[in-house]
Amino acid sequence: MLLKGKVYYVGVNDRVKHRFEGLWLLPQGVSYNSYLIADEKATVLVDTVDVAFFPEFLGKIREVLNDRPIDYLVINHMEPDHSGSISLIRKYYPNIRLIGNKKTMEMVNGFYGAWRDGDLCIADGETLELGHHNLTFYLTPMLHWPETMMTFDTTDGMLFSGDAFGCFGALNGHPLDTCIDATPFWPEMERYYAAILGKFGSPVKAGLKKLSKLDIRMICSTHGPVWTGEGITRAIDTYSRMAEGRTAEGLVVCYGSMYGHTQQVAEAVAEGAAEAGMKKIVVHNLSVSAPSYVLADVFRYEALAIGGPTYNGGLYPVVEDLLKRLAGRNVSAHRLACFGGFTWSSQAVKTMLAYNEKMRMQLVGEPLEWKQGTSESTLEQARKLGALLATKA
Ligand code: FEO
Repeated sequence: MLLKGKVYYVGVNDRVKHRFEGLWLLPQGVSYNSYLIADEKATVLVDTVDVAFFPEFLGKIREVLNDRPIDYLVINHMEPDHSGSISLIRKYYPNIRLIGNKKTMEMVNGFYGAWRDGDLCIADGETLELGHHNLTFYLTPMLHWPETMMTFDTTDGMLFSGDAFGCFGALNGHPLDTCIDATPFWPEMERYYAAILGKFGSPVKAGLKKLSKLDIRMICSTHGPVWTGEGITRAIDTYSRMAEGRTAEGLVVCYGSMYGHTQQVAEAVAEGAAEAGMKKIVVHNLSVSAPSYVLADVFRYEALAIGGPTYNGGLYPVVEDLLKRLAGRNVSAHRLACFGGFTWSSQAVKTMLAYNEKMRMQLVGEPLEWKQGTSESTLEQARKLGALLATKA
């Protein structure tokens, strides 16, 4: 499918995989985007696809090139959802030359055993002229792995951005944002960022700074739609906001509950916040909600309440799982309240506070603890905690 100039979309949809990276739910699938530049002086493939889709991928390449060989494969990112077809592409196009940086080279050797003489190890800012298109390579480490880079076509302003600006969700009919209803992809971009890139706020900011000098007219990421026009501004704004930890007014209440006591308290926290005037309140039962949706909401809203019971001398597992995930992400600007019950030995709140030493959120009010059943006084304290979370200092 021709996108612009001599650039074709040759990516594939994965509507089979249940969880991305074995972790993150994919209710609408995911696309692995690859781009083929069939230019005058040379042909260039930009990234490949998950190896399970190689026959379909090869068919799309051949539809564009017929018997013409591929001269170069640009490897913007080595995670196997994009690099997985390198070995097979080399088998079908034995003279293809890989283009990557020093770290790509190490990973190609590590994963696929073969960086060859003649492959191009490029440095930041190096260029490649193809006839119509002219490519410049920018190193953007940790967006998403250390070797990650982006490729910019100065002729048509096309940015091949790797994972950056990508979304969960397979493509329905067309890759261009102007040819589809792109509305459902925006929350999926936030969920993708929260799950995949949420740890890397500082490298994302550094990457955005590097891109700010470019005249970008099309963003071709490795997942989800190709962004044009206002889609470019919105994608970059989304990344800036999430990398800087800018949040909207709102509260996320996350809890785990075995027999309903912690749930009662969670509901009371939400009620207290609503009575204090907060409108955007999301409540997640962590035994039910999938982690990527919870993380996306945490990145979206400024206040967070976390509650769970003591369990096996520690914290209830689904609550501890969320805290572990948050401790590895850039969410320190949040206001936080904790609540937890116990039957004979109090450990839950203690564990939550220990995690907050890593998360470094601003603790609001006193953590709420109760022994065994909840009383009206416990619920009243929970409502007060909710009201405190709803009120900015
Ligand atoms: Fe889509 Fe980091 O791989």
